[in-house]
Amino acid sequence: MERYSEEFRSQEEEKEEYLQTDEEVFQRYFYELDLKPEDFEGKILDVGSGSGQFAKYAKEHGVSSEIYSLDYNAQFQEKTNAVQGLAQKMPFKDEQFNLVVSYASVPRIFANNIEYPDMIEENIRQGLSEMLRVVRKGEEVRFGPIVNGEGEELERTFREILNKVLEELQIK
Ligand SMILES: C[S@@+](CC[C@H](N)C(=O)[O-])C[C@H]1O[C@@H](n2cnc3c(N)ncnc32)[C@H](O)[C@@H]1O
Repeated sequence: MERYSEEFRSQEEEKEEYLQTDEEVFQRYFYELDLKPEDFEGKILDVGSGSGQFAKYAKEHGVSSEIYSLDYNAQFQEKTNAVQGLAQKMPFKDEQFNLVVSYASVPRIFANNIEYPDMIEENIRQGLSEMLRVVRKGEEVRFGPIVNGEGEELERTFREILNKVLEELQIK
């Protein structure tokens, strides 16, 4: 029962996120992911991009036209560099990006089958491995909030699994 209400709450929050303007989304990414002007010099991948508002705003304002949006739900506003696909199996070659970002998509991209907790660990492993595969060696993967109002128990479980997989993959 509690799980349903948590899911309901997070869906409401998700709707609110979708209602943000492109500028609000861009600002949120910029400040919370600690982006610097030099981060926009290379290719960026936005995993779980939603409709691609981050890339769209950056392109329209001359910040970067090299931001790629990946989402399995292909309702992209920003068509140019938008790709439909799963975080766990990305349709990109190895070491293509200078920076990989993901905002408000974790844990959803790793745990979209929250009813099947056994799958969460494997999803996290696959998603993180894919992010590491497509980012250039020595470059960064940056996440926005790990858990966004999903409930304390889920947050604890998710962080435990995430830390375990990060350790296995030797990420600090
Ligand atoms: C809450 S929205 C966040 C959108 C955007 N990042 C933002 O901050 O405004 C989460 C997005 O993650 C996408 N998503 C969830 N699981 C995914 C997966 N396994 N692979 C790719 N995208 C996924 C959903 O389709 C949704 O668009």
